[in-house]
Amino acid sequence: MNLFAVKPVERILAESEITGEHSLKRSLGPAALVALGIGAIIGAGIFTLTGVAAATNAGPAIVLAFIAAAIGCGLAGLCYSEFASMIPIAGSAYTYSYATMGEFLAWIIGWDLILEYAVGAATVSIGWSQTLVAFLHHFGIDLPPSWSASPFQPITLADGSVVYGVINLPAVFIVVIVSVILMIGIKESANVNTVIVFLKVAVVVTFIAIGWAYINPSNHEPLIPPNTGTFGEFGWSGILAGAGVIFFAYIGFDAVSTAAQEAKLPKRDMPIGILGSLVVCTILFILYSYVLTGIVNYKNLNVAAPLSLALEKIPHPWLSPAMNLAVLAGLTSVMLVMLLGQSRVFYSMSNDGLLPKLFSDVHPKFRTPYKSNLVLMIFVGVFAAFAPISVVGKMTSIGTLLAFVLVCGGILVMRKTHANMPRPFKTPLVPLVPILGILCNLALMLGLGWSNWARLIAWLLIGFAIYFGYSRYHSKLQA
Ligand code: ALA
Repeated sequence: MNLFAVKPVERILAESEITGEHSLKRSLGPAALVALGIGAIIGAGIFTLTGVAAATNAGPAIVLAFIAAAIGCGLAGLCYSEFASMIPIAGSAYTYSYATMGEFLAWIIGWDLILEYAVGAATVSIGWSQTLVAFLHHFGIDLPPSWSASPFQPITLADGSVVYGVINLPAVFIVVIVSVILMIGIKESANVNTVIVFLKVAVVVTFIAIGWAYINPSNHEPLIPPNTGTFGEFGWSGILAGAGVIFFAYIGFDAVSTAAQEAKLPKRDMPIGILGSLVVCTILFILYSYVLTGIVNYKNLNVAAPLSLALEKIPHPWLSPAMNLAVLAGLTSVMLVMLLGQSRVFYSMSNDGLLPKLFSDVHPKFRTPYKSNLVLMIFVGVFAAFAPISVVGKMTSIGTLLAFVLVCGGILVMRKTHANMPRPFKTPLVPLVPILGILCNLALMLGLGWSNWARLIAWLLIGFAIYFGYSRYHSKLQA
């Protein structure tokens, strides 16, 4: 058995052509791919985690944290684009590492991507639940905290007392709904997504446009509050820590690459989808966080629904419920893309024999990996029900950052091992861009602190056990 067995790119491409009835429908053009990216990106990160990161890590310098995280993403995005245009098949970073760094690393990255997509979807479902609570509160309906929050999530009631939840039922509800939509089919999912993306961009743009007039400049002073003496609490280390947290807000542009098998012209459209969605969102996030911290002082932003808090300060009473409704739809679209991406990664891993066949069984009528969607629904549902948002959010961030580091490293390897292979999109300034990508994303990982490193290592150890207990014996490459 060879841990470093590389799956030849030629074989990857050939397999994607001959899968016949098991192949996925090619229905997405460039605009749909950019929409898919934006649909995955704008979500719980910007609407929920921004408040906490400003209040506890960066202060008004959250704007700088967004720039720092965007740099890491941009560098990784340039590397993703080269890969996605060269190897335009489902599977994302998993497939790329299989072709470059060997089976074991590919397994690690595939396993790690579960943190990004599945645990990420759970994070967003919890943001969805918090937004629903804020939305219903506006109409005088208060969901009991015991049924709408994790047992590990403290909730401060109006009288100042602190209670804990039992189970987060709204989060479980939305996980089930999204899973059912995905079982029915990609075409429907993409259409629903495009409508919701418009709504979501409208929320962000409206908030920036209307909120701008209500910025209190004193809330931006000082831009970088002094460090408290603890790493990550304000000052420059706070910007790094804040960037690690709100990095979550950018996750999703890479999910475009998992739809490569559904793209009509993957070689041209993958880079457009990935980089286009990233650029649009970076601009929106910087302006949004500037307005948010300008309306509400950062010290008061450590709340479940920071957008609602800011909207209370704007004398347009209709704005808050309307926006919360659009945010609910927006978060749903993020979950669609994440769970879609996850089932596609499983599809590839299962086709390679590294996961059981049920993950690549395609429904005869809907042509979706419905069994995979079902397993995911249960796994994600458990996290949605019981996990606190800050823990799953940071696990998602650190897992995704590791994937980015490996993708950047993969470009360096690929330029040596497949120097002559056609590259419809070339990462500029190699090796500088991939090396900077590795360093920036490692720095963001450091900002997330040791407890999250420990969780990442524990997760990877579970993955090792599965690889050495199951996958290496079933690998088709090694058969
Ligand atoms: N970027 C996505 C979000 O913020 C994951 O929800």
